[in-house]
Amino acid sequence: MTEPLPTTDLKQLSEDALSALQVLDTSDPGAVEKWRVEFLGRNGRLTTVLRGLGALPAEQRREAGAAANSLKEQLEQRLEEKRTQTLAAQAARAESLDISLPGRRMRRGRLHPSTQIIREICSAFNEMGFQTVEGPEVEWERYNFDLLNIPRDHPARDKWDTIWIEQPESRRPPDGQRILLRTHTSPMQGRVMERQQPPVRVIVPGKCYRFEATDATHEWQFHQVEGLVVDEGVTFADLKGTLYEFARRIFGANRRVRFRCDFFPFVEPGVDMSIDCFGCDGKGCRICKNSGWIEIMGAGMVHPKVLAAVGYDTARYTGFAFGMGPERIAMLRYGIEDIRHFFSNDLRFLSQF
Ligand code: PHE
Repeated sequence: MTEPLPTTDLKQLSEDALSALQVLDTSDPGAVEKWRVEFLGRNGRLTTVLRGLGALPAEQRREAGAAANSLKEQLEQRLEEKRTQTLAAQAARAESLDISLPGRRMRRGRLHPSTQIIREICSAFNEMGFQTVEGPEVEWERYNFDLLNIPRDHPARDKWDTIWIEQPESRRPPDGQRILLRTHTSPMQGRVMERQQPPVRVIVPGKCYRFEATDATHEWQFHQVEGLVVDEGVTFADLKGTLYEFARRIFGANRRVRFRCDFFPFVEPGVDMSIDCFGCDGKGCRICKNSGWIEIMGAGMVHPKVLAAVGYDTARYTGFAFGMGPERIAMLRYGIEDIRHFFSNDLRFLSQF
């Protein structure tokens, strides 16, 4: 039996191993492992050579042993490099961009439907010379009630179910004034008139609150848009003309309007205004509940007591006021059946406007 020539064997082995490593698919952990088993495994080719060393003469054994061990180290190091490459390749693949995928659609934001209708209402009045002003949602009862000819303990307060703000005894003002969430935008009438002399011509959008059980037509939070005009010689004809023009701008040039008596303590005479139904032109349909008319706001001539309460000369000045619910107007216009949609933050509803 001829002795193997270990150095020649080692050279061949080194060449085989390195060239196999070169073409190895580094992204395939299975292939890398297969290579390791073939050359460095327990029954691999290098191990077999190392085992055969014992049969060599001492001198050759030392030389061949050193060469074999250095090859083993070299191969192990190369393998480690390959493994690092494999990991890097995998990481790169995970982060890579698939440019063939369809893009994600951008969702564009929009104004809340209440905001849209409020802006529309206000600009209709701005164009008629009204100035937009805003006031606090947390309000003194003085502005929400007292100045509006709704004294404390007067049954008329029941009309506005009120959410009161609790005040610790120690913080109550000496006059016993209480704090509430405004039940309408009318408190701004007093706030505006207190600070300026006529002529007054303002439009007041804002959030209001009522202590109310909710249903399809009632919410405990909603908006109102208030209007107030005070000057010398303002008459009911001005009220009618202004609100008629408003109705035509918002609901269409062919609209007719109707005024009927109504009661609010801060106006005299008080009215509610209806427009003929835009769904059926007054013939009767679901929107107007077959009446042909749709009520859209309360209004009236400012009560002299309200003017007097802010120190206006009632012999000289008269005025009119009105208030409407923009959610109600949006509901009529877009056929929205439930007012609670406005504050439920459901995108399926909100994205329709
Ligand atoms: N503030 C009244 C309400 O909330 C509406 C209104 C305003 C009526 C101005 C007349 C004049 O019901």
